Amino acid sequence: MKVVCGPASKELAERVSALTGFGSVHVACKVFPDGESYVRLEGSVKGENVAIVQTTCPPAQDGKLFQLAFMADAAKRGGAKKVTAVVPYLAYARQDKMFLVGEGISVETVARMLKAAGVDELVTVNIHSEAALGSFPFPAKTLSAIPLLAEYFVQKGCRGAFALSPDKGAMYIARQAQQVLGGDAGHLNKERDRFTGQTVQTAKGLNVKGQTVIIFDDIISTGGTIVGAAKIVREKGAEHVFCACVHGLLIGDAEKRILDAGVEEIVGTDSVPGRVSKVSLAPILSQELKAQR
Ligand code: R5P
Repeated sequence: MKVVCGPASKELAERVSALTGFGSVHVACKVFPDGESYVRLEGSVKGENVAIVQTTCPPAQDGKLFQLAFMADAAKRGGAKKVTAVVPYLAYARQDKMFLVGEGISVETVARMLKAAGVDELVTVNIHSEAALGSFPFPAKTLSAIPLLAEYFVQKGCRGAFALSPDKGAMYIARQAQQVLGGDAGHLNKERDRFTGQTVQTAKGLNVKGQTVIIFDDIISTGGTIVGAAKIVREKGAEHVFCACVHGLLIGDAEKRILDAGVEEIVGTDSVPGRVSKVSLAPILSQELKAQR
């Protein structure tokens, strides 16, 4: 197998190549003056199974998606046997159903586009809803980075901390973290108005007085969810509050707002390379690719 180092995940791909021992293929890329993307694989993939590592997080997620499609096409034209797209953050995954009349299902469109480009299989990490993968036109799998994030906090001395998810649907995330942290787990309730996007969070029967609370979520976008959750647990007497997310998009001043709300540290993964990407996905991606080989 060969690991193609997509321009959006170069460091992560190099780590995966080092951990698996699979050779890496570098990619030359540029953006033309009119904004169009260009990629060229700088090594041979003839007769190989190929894993293209390319996240599609903001900024410029559309450009990153097109780079991914172009790399898949280049790999197939270069004689690759099978192309696995390794996409830690899969753009458009949250539009996985028609919430309002007149909408489409963006994530399905993305998957069909990737299939047309030459992708045979897809691996992602903590997709917002696993059910969305069922409608993809190729085998697709989501891995969980929550144990790695929880382990970061164990190393930091937070064994026994309370694992909190900001809404009921994400309780499985808090449970995965709890298995590593060894403390209690719970969730808040969150309701979203589909037209305004505004959310209301409530806590029922949550006892975190005097505890260290780590709020776990799949995505931090504007930070509103974590800010609301942090305020609630602070009011309920939590002594220390941290937050962990797989995909730390941190749009606008999200980081500042979260820290201002009393969160002591924000920890994310290299699905979104940046200031908070303190945990690498390389171990779980490598394990998956070695098993697939
Ligand atoms: C949605 O349910 C997700 O799990 C996240 O909670 C959400 O995307 C976070 O968005 P924001 O940071 O804008 O509140």
